[in-house]
Amino acid sequence: MTASAPADPKHAFPADFVWGVATSAFQIEGAATLDGKGPSNWDTFCRVPGAIADGSNGDVACDHYHRWAADLDIVQSLGVNAYRFSVSWPRVQPAGSGAWNDKGLDFYERLVDGLLARGVSPYLTLHHWDLPQALQDQGGWTHRDTVHRFVDYARGLAARLCDRVVSITTHNEPWVMATLGYETGLFAPGCKDRRLAMQAAHHLLLSHGLALQALRADGCASALGIVLNLSPVQPASAAPEDIAQARIEDGRLLRWYMDPLFHGRYPQDIVEFLGADAPQMEPGDLAAIAQPMDFMGLNYYSRAVVSAKGPWDATQSGLALTDMGWEIYPEGLTELLLRLHRDYRVPPLFVTENGGAFKDTLQGGRVHDTGRTAYIASHIAAVGDAMRQGVPMAGYMVWSLMDNFEWASGYEKRFGIVHVDYATQQRTLKDSALWYRDFLQQQAAA
Ligand code: FCB
Repeated sequence: MTASAPADPKHAFPADFVWGVATSAFQIEGAATLDGKGPSNWDTFCRVPGAIADGSNGDVACDHYHRWAADLDIVQSLGVNAYRFSVSWPRVQPAGSGAWNDKGLDFYERLVDGLLARGVSPYLTLHHWDLPQALQDQGGWTHRDTVHRFVDYARGLAARLCDRVVSITTHNEPWVMATLGYETGLFAPGCKDRRLAMQAAHHLLLSHGLALQALRADGCASALGIVLNLSPVQPASAAPEDIAQARIEDGRLLRWYMDPLFHGRYPQDIVEFLGADAPQMEPGDLAAIAQPMDFMGLNYYSRAVVSAKGPWDATQSGLALTDMGWEIYPEGLTELLLRLHRDYRVPPLFVTENGGAFKDTLQGGRVHDTGRTAYIASHIAAVGDAMRQGVPMAGYMVWSLMDNFEWASGYEKRFGIVHVDYATQQRTLKDSALWYRDFLQQQAAA
């Protein structure tokens, strides 16, 4: 795979293909306690000593809560036709149940109207990890009641915004929330218990299905779906134990989510593997999860290599790595898209996140981030390859519009195509943003 722009972009993508940039609320908004916002589990987690690499938090982040209009001007200047963002649940419903916060709702109304005024379609995510702390205090996603609180939240928010948002995603990356949040403890709420993690995953899936049912019953016309983080999982060698381990990891990462969403069942090999850690369910849960979706979102960054001997050392692979230490492997995206189409007959597919962290330097008002441009271009080409082989591709969105709070990595990792100077909050378009803008112009002219 070359690192240049797709060979013939003119013919690569249909005119109605959706091109976007993505962000999430906690990573950019700041204003953590302003205008009635309640605390989230990430506000709490950032206070745990050692939890965030640089000891930072989301209190100010990119100050997008105040700078949203100028940020949307940048979005518009890129020539994208979609902006993927998330709503901070504790900003609009501070305790996760009961009273709504009008000032928070007004912020998202302004944002959505501001996008429409700029000719950019709003793609809304209901839950990109920042759960109201009041719900976390009751057990968060391990507690079945959170499922019903989420459905109420989805309905309340949709009642305000459904008429203007093109698309609503229930959850961003349930695997990350369940596994890193409740099993390894690297992310909020920092719990380390596999049984609880699998229960959280089940509740996330169930809340997705019940929210889709409720929103449709309410007459919400937005396209409805979910966003998963998936990777091809490859064994480190041809040894049977590596192959077996890779099969388990594939089951836990991909099939544990795709099978119930599209086939209404959990993968039996993983249920057996989990034993007593498999989730508790109630009759009807699996049927509720398997709601038809209008679209599916895939966040793709790299492949996963699995060895029975322990963690895989990516520096040994010979592939170039991003600043996260993730291998650059665009062909894995094509492979994955083909599999999703083949095994699950997925609805229209969006790559809802793709991009790379690289060490950037701002010099003379420019950031020459050739590595990021090459990363994005090669993955767009990989999407084109899948599309030409019959995968129903609907869109591609860069992660991320701008540098932001990269969770447990704090502000040390930069994923933006727009540089943020955190001392001044000045935004500067990196070369990758200029490349994306030019690429989209070529697409529009084709
Ligand atoms: C994804 C998250 C997103 C961002 C990227 C780098 O897992 O959805 O918020 O942190 O990784």
